[in-house]
Amino acid sequence: MSIVQRAPDYIRAISPYVPGKPISELAREMGLVESEIIKLASNENPLGASPKATAAATAALADIHRYPDGNAFALKSAIAAKFGVGIDQVVPGNGSNDVLDLCARAFLNHASSAVYSQYAFAVYPLAVQTAGARGIEVPARDFGHDLEAMAAAVGEDTRLIFIANPNNPTGNFLSGAEVERLLQRVPRDVVVVLDEAYNEYMEPSQRYDSVAWLRQYPNLVISRTFSKIYGLGGLRVGYGLAGAELADVLNRVREPFNVNHIALAAATAALGDDEFVAKSYAVNRAGKRQIEDGLKVLGLRFIPSAGNFIAFEVADGAAANLALLKQGVIVRPLASYKMPTWLRVTIGLPEENERFLAALAKAIA
Ligand SMILES: Cc1ncc(COP(=O)(O)O)c(C=O)c1O
Repeated sequence: MSIVQRAPDYIRAISPYVPGKPISELAREMGLVESEIIKLASNENPLGASPKATAAATAALADIHRYPDGNAFALKSAIAAKFGVGIDQVVPGNGSNDVLDLCARAFLNHASSAVYSQYAFAVYPLAVQTAGARGIEVPARDFGHDLEAMAAAVGEDTRLIFIANPNNPTGNFLSGAEVERLLQRVPRDVVVVLDEAYNEYMEPSQRYDSVAWLRQYPNLVISRTFSKIYGLGGLRVGYGLAGAELADVLNRVREPFNVNHIALAAATAALGDDEFVAKSYAVNRAGKRQIEDGLKVLGLRFIPSAGNFIAFEVADGAAANLALLKQGVIVRPLASYKMPTWLRVTIGLPEENERFLAALAKAIA
C-alpha cells in the first residue's frame, strides 16, 4: 500500500492552496530580471512595512537564539489596550490563517460541519477539510456573502461559520448591521468567525465596531492580521479577539510558540504606527480609483472592492494572465475559486498601477 493511502480520505481530497507567484519564480520561468517584475498578486502593502516595525525586527535579531515569549505578552497587551479588551481575549496567530485554523481545530471533527460562502477566502474549506468536518458552501449573491442563506444553512451539527468582511478575492463588503443581524440569528453554540483581514482598508462610512459585539456574543471570534495594511506578510503574525472563554479554548490548541520572536517585536511596534497605516490607506484609496478608472477605459467589468485589491473579468483569464506574466506583471488568476474568467490585482504604487494597466491593455488586445 502506498504511504499516501494511509492518510485519511478527507486529507487526500484536499486541493492545496494556490498562492500568488513569487517574483523569483517568474524570473526563473520567463528569463526576466527580478527588479523589473512587479507583483500585485498577494494583497501585500506596496509601501513595504512600517519603519517602526522594521527597526523593532532588526533589534530583535539580537535575541533569536532564545525561544519567543509563548504567551506573547507584549503584543497581547498592546492589542488589548488598543481595543479596550482584556489580555485574556487576545489569541496570537502565526498569521491570521493560524487563527482560522485554530477555530477549525478547536471546534470541528468528523461529526460536525462548518458554513462558508461560495467565493469566500480559500482557507475556510481547507481548514474545515483538514479537521475532517463537512463544509457547507452557500451560493454567493452578487459574488458576496448571502448571510440570510448562510444562517439558514446552519444545521444540528454546525459548529462554525466563516465570514470574510471585506471578502477576498471578491472585495465584497457587508455592513455592520448585516453582520450583526447574522449574529443575532445564529445559535449561541455556533462559533462565528468574522475574518477582518482587510478591516483597516474600509472607508470611514463602512466602519462598524465589531469589537463591541464581543461583549454580547460569546460565540464571536474576530480575526485580524499584520500581513495586509501593516505590511508584515513575510513575518506571519495575526490575532484573534474573542470572549475570554472562547479565547481560552483556542489557546489550548495553539502551538506553544506559534508566533516567532521577530514577528512579535515587529507587530507590537507596527500596531503603534498610526501614521504608516494612514499613509497606506491613502495610497490604497487613490490607487483603487486609478485602477477602477483604467478598467473602465478598457471596458472591463470589475467588482467594487472594500479591500486593497480588485477582481476584474476578461474573456480568457488564463490567456490574459500569461500575457501579463510575459510582461513581468504578476496578478492572481481566480480559476481556483471557480472564477476562470476573473483575475485579481492588488493595488500598488501609482507607477505600478500604471504599468499594470498598460500591460493589461496589451494582454487583452
Ligand atoms: C480574507 C483573508 N483572511 C485571512 C488571510 C490570511 O492572511 P495571514 O495569514 O497572512 O494573516 C488572508 C490572506 O490573504 C485573507 O485574504
